[in-house]
Parts: sequence; structure tokens; C-alpha cells
Amino acid sequence: MAKILQVQTYIASKEKACHEVGIISSVYRFDETVSEIKLLETIDFLNNDEDVDGFIVQLPLPKHIPVDKIIQRINPAKDVDGFHPINIGRMVLNLPSYLSATPYGIMQLIERYNIETEGKHCVILGRSNIVGTPMSILMSRKGYPGNCTVTLCHSKTENLKEICLQADILIAAIGQQEFVTADMVKQDAVVIDVGMHRIPSTETKSGYKLIGDVKFDEVAPKCSYITPVPGGVGLMTIVSLLKNTLKAAKKEIF
Ligand code: GUN
Repeated sequence: MAKILQVQTYIASKEKACHEVGIISSVYRFDETVSEIKLLETIDFLNNDEDVDGFIVQLPLPKHIPVDKIIQRINPAKDVDGFHPINIGRMVLNLPSYLSATPYGIMQLIERYNIETEGKHCVILGRSNIVGTPMSILMSRKGYPGNCTVTLCHSKTENLKEICLQADILIAAIGQQEFVTADMVKQDAVVIDVGMHRIPSTETKSGYKLIGDVKFDEVAPKCSYITPVPGGVGLMTIVSLLKNTLKAAKKEIF
């Protein structure tokens, strides 16, 4: 139940952001028992609607729905999440593409704060299609931000702590709350926290609070820069989705 509420909060934030910048948005909600056919038909409808510049399918999907098939049905020119294989392939080849929202947001943060990346060791925790894998491509490719030496760590990585200690830039997208502790972080490292976990709390009116993949209070004193949760990468993700939608409306990519 908590997960569903969290997903609904994400969607509400995206709707609100669209409204604030003047993008007209609609949400199509389905039961968890929705059929694959129904989802594919809805995607076809949106692909063919000339009034729709871009759309996303909020993940995760129920277990009986094949996510790859759903994503591949989206017209790449309207895929403002940048999840379609054509957009991912174009991103890898450094061709114009929609970058998926979280990696795009992180790239913008690095650029805005003039974080040095050339020749630096960027360690990424987590190899998801949405964050870890595209981040590894973007940080290693030619240009700025980029030109990093990248290490992509995952559940089978040995000596994880030693590798993290070598990171000039550490990107935590591992999906485990407060996984990164101070003893894993080099002095003056840049730490980017992609985690988002809702935990019960007596400190807030709502009865819960958000925490990340990084143990912020003990890691922050060691860092030259660190992103908080909430108020860090999450906000940039929404901005990136809006930027991609604007690009779609202007037909900048396709
Ligand atoms: N679920 C978690 N992150 C994302 C995202 O960036 N886009 C979509 N569509 N679903 C998600």
C-alpha cells in the first residue's frame, strides 16, 4: 500500500509541475488487474493523438504486464521518459535523444554547480535501466559533464566499500535506505543520492518522512557537495520531464 501511495505522490507532483508551467496534462488510471491489451490500446491512442506531444507510462507495472513490450509500443518521438530502446540507443551513440528524467536531472545538477568531471572517478551504485546504466554511459562519454572513469557497482560487486572510497563522484541508486555510510566516502567527494524511501516518523504531521540511499547526516560533513532527500534529485527529475516535453512540442529531437 505504501508503494502505491508513493507512486501516486510522484504522479501528483508531475501533474502539479505541468500545471505550473502551462503544460496541459491528463492522467489515465487503471486497476492493478488491467490487461496488456488495454494498456497497448491506450498507448496507440496517445501515439495517434496529434494534440499529445509526449507521454509516460509510470512504472512499476503490475507483474502480469510485460514492461518491455509496453515501453516499445510508445512512439519514440513522444517518449519523454527516454525509456524506448531507440532513445536509449541514440543516447549511447551521443545522438539527439530524450534522456531519461533522473539521469538528465543529475547531468543538469552537475553542470549548474560546475562540478569537475574530466578524468574523475565516478562510482555508480545500481545498474537499473532507468538510472544506473544510463548514468554510466553519460558520465563516461566525451564532453562535459562526462569524461569520467566510471565504475558501475551492483549486487555482485566485490569490495564495494573500497571502490566507493575511490570515488570522486558517488551516485547512489541502489534502492536501499541509508546504504552509503561515512566510512564509504572519500573526503571532499561529490555525493548524489537517487534513493527515495518513505519511512514512518513521529517528527512530521503526515506520520512519515523521506530518506535516501545515503546516510545524509554522517556523510554530508565529508562531502564537497551532496544532494538531500527530499529536495535534491527528485526535483530535478520532474524538471527534466518538463524539459523533454517542451523538446517534444518543439520537435527538437525527432
Ligand atoms: N518509476 C520510477 N521512476 C520513474 C520515472 O522516471 N518514470 C516513470 N515513468 N516511472 C518511474
